[in-house]
This record gives sequence, C-alpha cells and structure tokens, in this order.
Amino acid sequence: MCSIFAYIGYRKAQPILLDGIRRMEYRGYDSAGIAVKNPEIQVIKSVGNVSQLQEKITQIFDGQTGIAHTRWATHGGVTDENAHPHFSFDRKVVLVHNGIIENYKALARQLQSLNIELKSQTDTEIIAHLIALELKSGKNPTASVLNTVKKLRGTWGICVMFADHQELVCARFGSPLLVGKNENEMFVSSDPHALHPYTDRVIFLEEGHIATLTQNNVELSSPTKNSVKAEIVTLEQDWGEAELGEFEHFMLKEIYEQPDALRHCVSGRMSLNQGIGRLGGMRLEPAVLQQTPHVRLLGCGTAFHAAEIGAALVERLARIPAVATISSEFKTNDPVINPKAIHLAISQSGETADTIAAIQEIHLKGAKAYGVVNVVGSTISRLCGQGVYIHSGPEQAVASTKAFTNMIAALTLFATQIGRSRHISKDQGVDILKELQQIPHKMEGYLESQGDIMKAVELLKDAKCVLFLGRGISAPVAKEGALKLMEVAYIPCLAYPAGEIKHGPIALLEEGSPVVVVAPNDSLQVKALSAIHECRARGAKIILIHEEGDSISSEGDISIAIPKCHELLSPLLTVIPLQLIAYHTAVARGCNVDRPRNLAKSVTVE
Ligand code: G6P
Repeated sequence: MCSIFAYIGYRKAQPILLDGIRRMEYRGYDSAGIAVKNPEIQVIKSVGNVSQLQEKITQIFDGQTGIAHTRWATHGGVTDENAHPHFSFDRKVVLVHNGIIENYKALARQLQSLNIELKSQTDTEIIAHLIALELKSGKNPTASVLNTVKKLRGTWGICVMFADHQELVCARFGSPLLVGKNENEMFVSSDPHALHPYTDRVIFLEEGHIATLTQNNVELSSPTKNSVKAEIVTLEQDWGEAELGEFEHFMLKEIYEQPDALRHCVSGRMSLNQGIGRLGGMRLEPAVLQQTPHVRLLGCGTAFHAAEIGAALVERLARIPAVATISSEFKTNDPVINPKAIHLAISQSGETADTIAAIQEIHLKGAKAYGVVNVVGSTISRLCGQGVYIHSGPEQAVASTKAFTNMIAALTLFATQIGRSRHISKDQGVDILKELQQIPHKMEGYLESQGDIMKAVELLKDAKCVLFLGRGISAPVAKEGALKLMEVAYIPCLAYPAGEIKHGPIALLEEGSPVVVVAPNDSLQVKALSAIHECRARGAKIILIHEEGDSISSEGDISIAIPKCHELLSPLLTVIPLQLIAYHTAVARGCNVDRPRNLAKSVTVE
C-alpha cells in the first residue's frame, strides 16, 4: 500500500529517495513520485512502478532535500495527476500522504469557494492547499501543518516540503511514520525496513505527533503540547537484502523458507519437560490463563485464517470458548468485550488498519490485546505492548505463506500454554510440542517430494471456478488455499466447510469442475470422504490433499500426500501443496505472482 520516504541532509536526495521507495515496493502500489528541492521544487510522477518513474527522470538533481511516495489508489483513478507528491495552488507547499481524509469533500468545497482549483481527484491535494493558506496567513511551517491537521478527519501520515523554508514537517495520525537519524542527515519512512541501509536510530511518531526536521535536528510537537520528548530507539531486526537467489519469485522462495522460519519461531519457546509453550513476551501468568472466560482472535486475510486455526486449537486444548473474528467486522458490530478475556491481534505486517482499529476498540472497552506479529516495532506490536513475534523474517510476496505457518506455530505454543493451565495433561502437552518440533523436518520432506502439483495446475489453470473443502481444522486451510489461488492466479474460488457443500455450493458443480479437498487423517476424514463422493457423483474432479500411506488416496483424481502428523498440526503441512498449486497456476497463467493486481501487502487504510 502507500509508502513515504523523505530525506534532508548533505547527500543528493534523489537516489536515496528512489532507493527508499523501491525497498517498500513489496507493499503493493500503482504509481510513484518524487519531489526534490533543486533549489526550485521539481516534481516527477508516474503511473506504474519505481523503474517507470526512474525512466521519466532525465537528470540527477543536486538537491539535498526531497520527499517520495508510492500510491495505492483510494480516491481517484491511477493517473499521473493523482500520484503524489501534490503541490499547493501557489507551489509553495508539496506533500505526500498515506491514509484517507474522510472530510475531504467538505474541505474541497471550502477551497473551491476561495477559487482554488483542484488538479487531482485525490483526498490528499486539499491538505497541500490548506497548509499553503496557513503559511500565507503568516504561520511558520510547523504551525501551518498543526493548524491544518486539526481540520482533518480520517487517517494520515504526511510529509511536507516547503519552497521557502528549509525544514521538512511530518505528521502522523493512524498511518505509521518514523524518523531515522544519522550524522548530519535525517530520513522519514513509513516502514522501518526501508531505513535499515541508512540508520538504525529511529523515532517512531506517535498518534497526533508532528515532527519538524532539519539536517541536524528533530523537534516533536502535538496539538496539545508545544514540545514532546523524542525517544530514539534502535531498530532491532535487520531484514537485510531479501534476494531471490535461485528462485524465480519471492512467493516460491518464501514457501521454501517455511521449515527454517518455523524453527526460528519455536526455538527456545518450548518447555519439553513440562509440555508447555513459553511465550515470555505475552507476560501471561497461569492465574490469568486460568480465569480467562474466553479467547478472541482477530485478523484479516491470511491472518484471519490463522486465527480460525488458533481458535480451534485453544478450544481443543484449553476447553474454553475461542472465536476468530475478521478485524474489519469487529468494531462495526459494537462488540461485547469482557476485560478478563484474552484478545489476540494477528498480523504479519503489524500495520493492518482494520486490526489496529479492532485493538483500539478493545482498549477503549478496558481490555488488553496481545499482538501475534511478524514485523518488529510495527504499530500493532507497539500498540499492544505485549505479545509474540512470529519471526518469519521478511515476507516480500504480497501473498502470505511463511507468515501463515508461523502464525499457526505461535498460536500452537499459546494453545499449549493456556491448555496446560486448564485442561491437558503434561503428557499431552509434551506430545504436541514434540510433534511441533518435527514439523520443519516434515515440511522439508514434503518440499523434496511434492507429488502431482503440476497435474493439479493443468486441471485448474483454465477453470471458471474452484471449490475448496475441508472439515474441522482443515476448513480454514481450505479457505487459505482458495485465497492464495484467487490472489495470485485471479481464478474465482469458493471455500466451504465440507459438510456445508450440500447447502449451496454443490449447485455449481458440473462435469469436470475442479474441487480441492483437504482431508488429513483425523477424526473428520470420514466426513470429508462423504463430501468427495457427493462431488464426484456430479462429475467433479477431485484434487485431494491427504496423509501419506492413507487409503483415502484412491478417492482423488489427483492425490497429493503430505507426511503423517499429529491431527492438530496438519494445517502446517496441508497448506503447503495449496500454496504451491496457487503459485504454479499463477505462473502458468502468466500472472505477476509477487505483485498481484490491486492487492497490497500492508493495508493501512480501513
Ligand atoms: C492484505 C494482504 C494479505 C494479508 C492481509 C493481512 O490483504 O494482501 O496477504 O493476509 O492483508 O495482513 P497482515 O499484515 O495484517 O497479516
């Protein structure tokens, strides 16, 4: 989704700006732009990717201050005019913005009544005009930004450059921004990852904060305080250069990284002699686990599917109600929140606006939320203040793979922790954890011998629609398989709990319709088998994911075996063939696997 990068210092800004926004390309966007003070402000914008922007830039400017942006369209189509940065009417102010200004129409009408002509269809442009009006009335840059943001409703991370003033001014409300500090230079970024090559000393702007930057100084203020103390923190984790190496795409690379990523996630977090997962960052005492009335898990997309699996694990191991809720539906439904309940906010990026809004609702109603997050220092991890990092390492492909399996692994550890304090015996806990330890090895075994993935691709690549089925803990896996195929190969997919097929989806089936069934060797396999028979009776072709050596294998037109495993841990393995099927189908259809159209890695608007 949208990204911001800015620079003020002693080096030429332009290459640094382009490098900064290139490092955030993985987030997904549709246009890009930069502005450099040279000493006149030069703005260059382009639809498409950063390379297309670069082609449009015919010279290297000497200017040492600049701002840059990649845009994921919300208001107004994907055009050069709508790309950021946006100028004010008098070209004295230029800015980039992440977020959505909800009252922009009312503000635009006010500007039009002052004969200010709007040049784009964006909600962003009005901010530049409002700041310019404040400057014109004699305010300094910081006060101009402050007075302007007081008029805005919605969310913003903005970075503003001025024709007649040296400083850059940034403001944050609901959209992350951080300042990177170095000797005689400052950086602004919406993503810590992009700052790593330049500095590890950063200041995370908090909600409502305004930062005024010169080459050597950062001043923080807020609407209520003239001066706020800047806390400099050291970025802990260097993602390093995520290189493709031998792989053609990041999605495939990340599928193959799952065994090591999972080892990393669980390492040092199991007490095998007590059969208990140890998640120190959660800071959950046994007494709290004992008394909690229920567990609620929140997430979007893939994280929601992990939440559903987590809920099943908690119910099975702790025997207390656990429910997974889509974050965007949470606040909307005015939820009843019990302050004693445990709320888990699950997110790869830690920046998903819908999940952040859900956490804020939980806080407002007096309860705590615990983050289950990949990106260290992200908004969700800081907002929750406690939780577990899933340690997947950088996930660059938009379609999530290794974060999904690590979310499940972290939730398994949590489920054994709460399970041991309430219901399961030490031996049961030990059994699950020992099996969990074996999963990376089993993943490697499967990746070495993947079965008939390419036959499945042949069946799916021209399909009108694909139905995914699973029961119990495999139902969310089926959903995740459908999401992956839809995201990267653009094939309409439906996913249902297998028992539900007769209540609707069966109407879609005709001769040759592909149906993917996830049926590990658990107590519900016999039910999945009934669904297979119902589908085959209508001419459907079955792609079956099953455990090796299992007699059900003869029921699939294409049968793909995963290694045998504990029935509660099967999602960690059954999802891998589904990820591979999605990947290879997308390649076969010529799709842009790592950057699927219209999608963003980090969805920072509600
Ligand atoms: C976007 C991505 C999905 C992801 C979801 C939640 O929709 O395209 O792949 O699952 O956001 O992201 P999160 O960072 O919160 O896990």
